[in-house]
Amino acid sequence: MTIERSCLAVILAAGDSTRMKSSMSKVLHPVAGRPMIAHVMAAVAATGIADVALVVGRDADNVAKAASVDGLSVEPFLQTERLGTGHAVLAAKAAIARGYDDILVAYGDVPLITEGPLLAARAALAEGADIVVIGFHTARPAGYGRLLVEDGELTAIREEKDATDEERKVTWCNSGLMAINGRKAIDLLSRIGNSNAKGEFYLTDLVEIARSLGGRTVAVDAPEEELTGCNNRAELAVIETLWQQRRRHQLMLSGVSMIAPETVYLAYDTVIGQDALIEPNVVFGPGVTIDSGAVIHAFCHIEGAHVSTGATVGPFARLRPGADLAEGSKVGNFCEIKNAEIGVGAKVNHLTYIGDAFIGAGTNIGAGTITCNYDGVNKYVTRIGANAFIGSNSSLVAPVSIGDDAMVASGSVITSDVPAEALALGRARQEIKPGRAVVIRQRNLAIKAAKKAGK
Ligand code: UD1
Ligand code: CA
Repeated sequence: MTIERSCLAVILAAGDSTRMKSSMSKVLHPVAGRPMIAHVMAAVAATGIADVALVVGRDADNVAKAASVDGLSVEPFLQTERLGTGHAVLAAKAAIARGYDDILVAYGDVPLITEGPLLAARAALAEGADIVVIGFHTARPAGYGRLLVEDGELTAIREEKDATDEERKVTWCNSGLMAINGRKAIDLLSRIGNSNAKGEFYLTDLVEIARSLGGRTVAVDAPEEELTGCNNRAELAVIETLWQQRRRHQLMLSGVSMIAPETVYLAYDTVIGQDALIEPNVVFGPGVTIDSGAVIHAFCHIEGAHVSTGATVGPFARLRPGADLAEGSKVGNFCEIKNAEIGVGAKVNHLTYIGDAFIGAGTNIGAGTITCNYDGVNKYVTRIGANAFIGSNSSLVAPVSIGDDAMVASGSVITSDVPAEALALGRARQEIKPGRAVVIRQRNLAIKAAKKAGK
């Protein structure tokens, strides 16, 4: 659905963060690896809105930066005193006064919101309402403004503190998200007063104000889950759980298999293709793409990485930023891969660190191989050709290149380039001393006996 009307989104993020007990603004706390405010912005962008007025309090620069999601033009406005939600919206008066068909107000601390309710609110404006409130039904209405409805029209929103006992029994609540007729917004907003129990300028008063001027006011319903707000870190954890459940469910319906989905943690931008299998206890950081048919075995930590079709990872593997696994390649248990290309069908099976490297197709990296990429100051690159064989427990001291079809004997420390098809040995030659083990064992037994006698 696209709506052919101009729209300004006003996002309120100047609120009280004290219950977060944090040095950081509430809306900067991450959900799925991305600041809360950016989730709200992504929902706004998904509704086709481009212009955003962001009302900020503390940490204004960082909040504005975090809110600058692709495709949005974000203009920050400072609310220096917290005098209520109506006052907060008016902090963006200069932007509202430019004249839009629709004004959409959303909170920066309600990160599970999606475009559905926002589009529904705008659709109701297009049908002639002056105020559209997004409401939700809840079993625990305490603390929320109640939606008072008569004959299908919203007649008022009553804040908990101002409500009668009868009004408090209402379970349809104000999410705080609201759409306002943009042509009347400045006039309506400037009529809000502060004679109420909290002495604040309530945005919710717009309902009664618009009605007193003959306007239509309606409420649209949305799922409670999407409107979950965050006030403290326990609520933040609930929001994270809800977000993870929702995204895992979407991925499974799109063809991704998860054996124990509740143990898989996704980032906001995790991409997983059809027929990929994600085993239990896998954590995805930002920037991961898993192609179709790849298998991620149990207990992997994957961040900034790409895993191609038919590749397998883990169990117990760590892929760090820049890890790029080609088709059919394999990274096994207790391996770490950073900023490295693993070629088609190449194998890095056990207890290995590959960093700043290119590994050619079909190459086998033996157990315990280490690319020594760092000299304590600078990082260097290791290049290994196709179909090479690196023996177990080798150290490849970068910068170094190993040619196609070359072999490195196990236990080698490789410090100079190995040509194609060559064998490199970089270790002490083995010596055999016949009978010597017996002599050493007898000497050790004698030492032990002498100690015991001396006591
Ligand atoms: C508000 C609504 C209430 C609704 C509830 C939903 C009003 C008067 N009440 O109440 O009906 O059920 O949200 O959560 O609107 N903010 C500012 N500047 C301010 C005050 C608030 O930016 O001066 C921002 C906050 O960051 C927050 C949002 O506005 O994101 C709501 O503020 P809050 O104080 O939490 O409002 P409630 O009292 O919960
Ligand atoms: Ca609140």
